[in-house]
Amino acid sequence: MAIKFYPETKTFFLDGKNMTYAFRINDADFAEHCHFGSPIGHDDLSFCKMAGATSMAASVPGDNGSPMKSYGYYPPEITFYGTGDFREPTVQIETPDGARLCQLLYAGYDILAEKPAIKGMPSMRGGETLVLHLKDPYIDFGADLYYTVYDDCSAIARRIVYINGTNDTVVLHRAYSFAFSLHNRDYKVMSLYGQWAGERSIQETPAQYGVISVDSKLTSSSAILNPFIGLIANDACETHGDAYGVNLIYSSSFVLKAQGLSDDRILVTGGINDFDFRWTLEAGEEFETPEALMVYSNEGVGGMSRQFHDAMREHLINQKYVKACRPLVINNWEGTYFNFTTDKLKEIASASAGLGIDTFVLDDGWFGKRDDDWSGLGDWVVNEKKLVGGLDAVIEHVNSLGMKFGLWFEPEMVNEDSDLFRAHPDYAIGAPMSSGRPRCYGRHQYVLDLTRKDVRDYIVESVNKILHNHHIEYVKWDYNRAVTESCSEQLPPHRQMEFAHRYALGLYDIFDRIVLANPDVFFEGCSSGGARFDGAVLAYFPQIWTSDCSDAERRTEIQYGTSIVYPQSAMSAHVSAVPNHQTGRVTCIETRAAIAGLCATGYELDMTSLTDEEREKIKAFNEEYRNNMEELVLTGDLYRSENPQKSNFFAETLVSKDKSHAVLTFYRRIRYANSPLKHIRPAGLDPNKTYKVKETGLVAKGSTLMSLGYPLILPGSDFATIKYHYDEVK
Ligand code: DGJ
Repeated sequence: MAIKFYPETKTFFLDGKNMTYAFRINDADFAEHCHFGSPIGHDDLSFCKMAGATSMAASVPGDNGSPMKSYGYYPPEITFYGTGDFREPTVQIETPDGARLCQLLYAGYDILAEKPAIKGMPSMRGGETLVLHLKDPYIDFGADLYYTVYDDCSAIARRIVYINGTNDTVVLHRAYSFAFSLHNRDYKVMSLYGQWAGERSIQETPAQYGVISVDSKLTSSSAILNPFIGLIANDACETHGDAYGVNLIYSSSFVLKAQGLSDDRILVTGGINDFDFRWTLEAGEEFETPEALMVYSNEGVGGMSRQFHDAMREHLINQKYVKACRPLVINNWEGTYFNFTTDKLKEIASASAGLGIDTFVLDDGWFGKRDDDWSGLGDWVVNEKKLVGGLDAVIEHVNSLGMKFGLWFEPEMVNEDSDLFRAHPDYAIGAPMSSGRPRCYGRHQYVLDLTRKDVRDYIVESVNKILHNHHIEYVKWDYNRAVTESCSEQLPPHRQMEFAHRYALGLYDIFDRIVLANPDVFFEGCSSGGARFDGAVLAYFPQIWTSDCSDAERRTEIQYGTSIVYPQSAMSAHVSAVPNHQTGRVTCIETRAAIAGLCATGYELDMTSLTDEEREKIKAFNEEYRNNMEELVLTGDLYRSENPQKSNFFAETLVSKDKSHAVLTFYRRIRYANSPLKHIRPAGLDPNKTYKVKETGLVAKGSTLMSLGYPLILPGSDFATIKYHYDEVK
C-alpha cells in the first residue's frame, strides 16, 4: 500500500518511488500540508506545525479564544477565501446571497486501488488514489481532493472536484486543481517562455514575497508560457539538490503560481486560469478540474526532468505508441509549401524510398481552395484540380514504395473564404453577432466554436470521412492561431465566461472521436510549431512538432528547454534544407541529423534536390537512428550536461535504463581560434560498469569516463557535432 492513514495522528502518507507526500488533519479540521520531498518515516508530524510570522491574523470563524488557530496560518492542501486566509485561494465561490465565503474542512476519505478517470479530460492512468473529502460546515458545498502515487516514479497526480450539494446555484469564481507549500523561501521559480519559432526557453526568478504567476489567456496552453512551474532549491543545480516541478495536464488558459508568504513559506497553487472565468454550478452539480502532475527529485533539475519523463511515458502517453518504433517521415512542407502537384509529391516520395524513411506526410494545401493561407480551411474535401487523380493517386504511389501515407489537418479552424464559413458564419468564434464587432484574424483565419456540439459534429464527420475513405496511417493535427472574442452564440450571458474551459472540453471530445476512434492511425500534434505542447495533447498524440524553427542551431536550445518537462520521444524534429528557411543559417547535414536524431525524427525538404552523397549520408543517419538512437529516445534516461541557452555548447547523453549503452551527442556552436581546451564528459553511466567507446576504442570504467572525460577533438568550423557511443563490456 503506497497510501496510509494513521487515525491516531490523522496523518496521511503517500509514498512514491523516491518520495513521500504527507499531510495531516489538524485540530481545526484543516488539511495541513506537512511534507513533499525525500522519503520520510511515518512519524507523528504534528511537531512541525505552524508557529511563524503572519500579519493581522484572523481566527477561524467563531473561535475567539486562540489567535494561533487561523486558516491563514496552516500550510495548506487547499486554500479558500473569506474566512481568515489571505493567501492566494485555490477556490472562491459565490452563493446566491452574494457571499463569497467557504471553509473546506475534513469530512472523511477513501483509498481507491485504481485511479478513476476524469470525465471529459485526459489524465494520468492507474495508481493508488486517495480521495480526501472536505466540506463546508454551513452550506452543502464540498471539495474532493484526489491524490495518486506511483511506485515507478517520484510523482503525484492531483486534482480537485468541487461539489455543489446545495439546492441552489453556486458560482465558481476560481477553481484550481491543487495547493501545497514548501518550507523556507530558498527557491528559484522556473518557467518555460517563448514565442513562435523560439519555444520553451528557461527562465529562473528568485522566489519573492508576493505572487509569481505563469499563465496563458489564449484558450490554449501557448508558446508564451508552458503550463509548468518549477521550484528549484537555491543550492540545487542540473545534477544535485531539491527540484520540484508541476505540469498542468491541460490545453486551455491556465495559471500556476508561487507565492512567497510572510512565514517564509512558498504557496504553490494553480489550475484553470480564473481570469475571464466564472462557472455556474447548478444544484447537485460537480466541477472537475484538470490534473496537475507534480514531481520531486533530489538529483537537481535533471532528476526532475527524468521524473516527468518517466511519469509521462508510463502513465500518460498512449502505451500503444509510446515505446514503439516511430514513423520516420518525409514531410513536404518546407520542400514545397503550398506549391505542389501530384507528380511533384510522387517524385519526393520516390526520392525518399530506400533511404530508411517509412512515412510520407502530405502537409497543408491538399483540400478545398487552398493555394495559400487565405482560404480553404474548414473544407475537408480533396482538391482534385490540384491533386490530379485525387489523394489516392499519391497514397497508392507511396504505398507501392513500401511507405505509409500521412496527412495534415487543421480541424479547429475556418477561413472566411471557405464553403464552411459561407454556409455557417456562426460556427466561427466571434463577438455576439448583434454587436456588429468584427472578428480578429490570425493567419487570415478564425477558430471554430468547439463549445458547440453541432460544430464538433461537423469536424468529426468531415475529418473521419477522409480518414475512413483513404488509406491514411498518420495524421499531423495543426492549430495555428489563438482564440480571441471568447464568446459563443449558444451560451447564455451568465455562462460566457465558461468559454475557455468549455473549448478545452470540446477539444478533448473531438480528440476522443477522431484520435481515439482511429486507433490504427498515428497522430502527431502541432500548433504553429510548438504552441500547444502540453500533457493533455500528449495523452492523445505521442509526439508533437516541437517548433517551426527547424534550424539545428536554434533547435538545440528549443529541445533543451522542452526536455525540462517533456520526454525526447514527445518531440518531433526534422532535418531540413540549408540555408535554413527560418534563420538563413547553414549547418552541415551531420549536425542537422544529430540534433533531430535526439527526438522522434524525419525530414522536411525537397528530397529530389539531394546529391548522391547526401542521399548516402541520409541512409546512414537513418540506420544509425534505428540501430542506436531510437530505443534511447523512446525509453532511455536523459542527462543534460551543456546548456546551449547559457553556453557555446550543447551536450546530452541518452542512457538505456539498464545503463548498458549510451550515446553522447556533443555540439559546438562557434569555433574559436586557440580556444581553451574543452573536456567532454558523458553523464548517467554506471560508475562501476566498464564501457567501450566505439569511436575511440577506449575501454574504461563509467566513473573514469564521467569524471575525466576527454579533450574535445572536433574538426570543422561552427555548428559542429560529435557523437560517442558507449557499450558495456562484460
Ligand atoms: C504550421 C506548422 O507548424 C507547419 O509545420 C506547417 O504544417 C504549417 N503550419 C502548414 O500550414
